[in-house]
Amino acid sequence: MKTLLVLGATGLVGGQVLQRALRDERVSSVVAPTRRALPTHSRLNNPIVDFEQLPEQADWWHCHAVICAMGSTRRKAGSAEAFQRADIDYPAHAATLARAAGATSLALTSSLGANSDSGNLYLRTKGMLEDRLADLGFRSLTILRPSIIAGERPESRPLESVGLRALEWLEPLVPARYRSVAATDIADCLLARALADRAGLTIIESDEIARQA
Ligand SMILES: NC(=O)c1ccc[n+]([C@@H]2O[C@H](COP(=O)([O-])OP(=O)(O)OC[C@H]3O[C@@H](n4cnc5c(N)ncnc54)[C@H](OP(=O)(O)O)[C@@H]3O)[C@@H](O)[C@H]2O)c1
Repeated sequence: MKTLLVLGATGLVGGQVLQRALRDERVSSVVAPTRRALPTHSRLNNPIVDFEQLPEQADWWHCHAVICAMGSTRRKAGSAEAFQRADIDYPAHAATLARAAGATSLALTSSLGANSDSGNLYLRTKGMLEDRLADLGFRSLTILRPSIIAGERPESRPLESVGLRALEWLEPLVPARYRSVAATDIADCLLARALADRAGLTIIESDEIARQA
């Protein structure tokens, strides 16, 4: 039985990961630090934290595996700096603490096109997080690089839903790697990889995610 740390559990992908982890017989307990409270569950520890001031001494950093589905956008965060804090510094700091406390496996939701040398802020930021996590010494690191993510969101994201509708229409014409990916498939893949703890770095591109789920 494994203990799991989930980052971004209030979000679309993180929420799907959490649901699955809580009913998975291989998982004994889940810790999901968030800034908004989650519904309670007997196997869930949900510390409410400020990611600017993570409680470094907390005993709940001790876990076997980490799943990261945390992230913002420049618009939501308010500035490029705040976006990079939320998308690089917060998850990297949390992963560092979990690694120091013994976690050996990490599975990350990154993005199609992630590249720390990119001229695009979003893709560069995702690539910079990948690089930071690769330096932490996890025995097993899996990076998923999805295209646009499909699933039910509480808030409306006009640009994203227009993009998703256009993709649905154009699906047969769109190259596989640009097609939308279901949040449920991403969650299945993240959980499978985090628990498998297979040694080394594995990068799973968008069109491979459903097959690996
Ligand atoms: N949406 C797409 O089409 C797409 C495509 C490729 C890659 N991705 C990436 O895939 C990952 C998961 O995507 P998603 O759509 O599931 O994301 P999401 O629904 O927006 O959820 C993001 C999560 O990150 C947390 N978060 C954001 N800013 C935070 C902050 N400043 N402090 C603490 N927590 C913060 C959110 O917490 P709150 O609930 O408190 O805000 C939420 O739990 C993200 O890294 C995203 O960038 C998304």
